[in-house]
Amino acid sequence: MKIYLAPMEGITGYIFRNALSQCFGGVDRYFTPFITTHTKKAMNARETNDILSEHNSGIPLVPQIISKDADDTIKLIEKLEKEYGYQEVNLNLGCPSGTVVAKGRGAGFLAHPKELQMYLEQVYDKIGIAMSIKTRIGLEDAGEFRQLLEIFNQFPVSELMVHPRVQKDFYKNKPDWEAFSYACQESRCNVVYNGNLFTKEDVAEFQKRFPSCDTVMIGRGLISNPALARELKGGKRLEMEEFQEFHGLLLQGYAKELSGDKNILFKMKELWFYFEKQFDHTDKHMKKIKKSQSLMEYELAVKQLLNESQILEQPTVLF
Ligand SMILES: Cc1cc2nc3c(=O)[nH]c(=O)nc-3n(C[C@H](O)[C@H](O)[C@H](O)COP(=O)(O)O)c2cc1C
Repeated sequence: MKIYLAPMEGITGYIFRNALSQCFGGVDRYFTPFITTHTKKAMNARETNDILSEHNSGIPLVPQIISKDADDTIKLIEKLEKEYGYQEVNLNLGCPSGTVVAKGRGAGFLAHPKELQMYLEQVYDKIGIAMSIKTRIGLEDAGEFRQLLEIFNQFPVSELMVHPRVQKDFYKNKPDWEAFSYACQESRCNVVYNGNLFTKEDVAEFQKRFPSCDTVMIGRGLISNPALARELKGGKRLEMEEFQEFHGLLLQGYAKELSGDKNILFKMKELWFYFEKQFDHTDKHMKKIKKSQSLMEYELAVKQLLNESQILEQPTVLF
């Protein structure tokens, strides 16, 4: 089975990708958080930094684009190909955020099938590299998916990543496996599953139902347990020492990239929302981590947590 790390804005940037790859491995492909196209502006410094080859050595990386403008998309793809050497990009048709959807991008684009079709026609006609699509199954209702899939099937989509929820679900409710089954039957290109695979058991259940789907994309599960991909490929479970090393690399990386304790702490605290699920008896320590105001306080709280807690054999991971 192939495992892709799902793009997560603010989380799966190059620092996280490098730390995960160095400490655990098991991920076959990484995706950048979405890069928004602009008519006049180029990529910003953060986006450029994230895709530079020197920041992604040994990491098979696919830049993800979010847009509703074909010309801007073509321009950005050409730049990614010619200036940065990428041979594949991914199009985001899944972001459910209100501001993105209001602009008709991400999952918002799914509400405009005619425009989407025209956009895809123009883009696939002009680009010289592969483009995969990451999509939800509609804006309001899973019934929208049939028409969307008909549209995708008209183009040389290199892979279709399906997160079988509609936009208005955000991350609530269960992913719709019936809709995913429909995608497996009807899609002309290879289909990749994404959604709520948090543990080895979740993946086993998925494989039982979809034995012929050979690729999954995992987001929150891999943030929570960064060894999950390795484990799914028959490697060992997450261990305390390597988690410590992983955490150290993240902290070091963010300290180098960001200025001021506040920004670094914000990043690390966001990650602990996911990490904490892997440990037992964390309440007291998590409170300290969340309340920490300086890096010194933070590091002490993390040290205490890692000294006094155990990694759970069978964590209950729900988000
Ligand atoms: C904080 C956060 C940021 C995300 N950012 C992106 C993004 O930049 N691009 C994208 O396609 N999906 C994004 N997603 C969605 C994930 O890629 C993924 O589809 C979703 O988390 C479901 O997969 P999971 O259940 O394995 O986490 C984001 C999700 C979260 C929770």
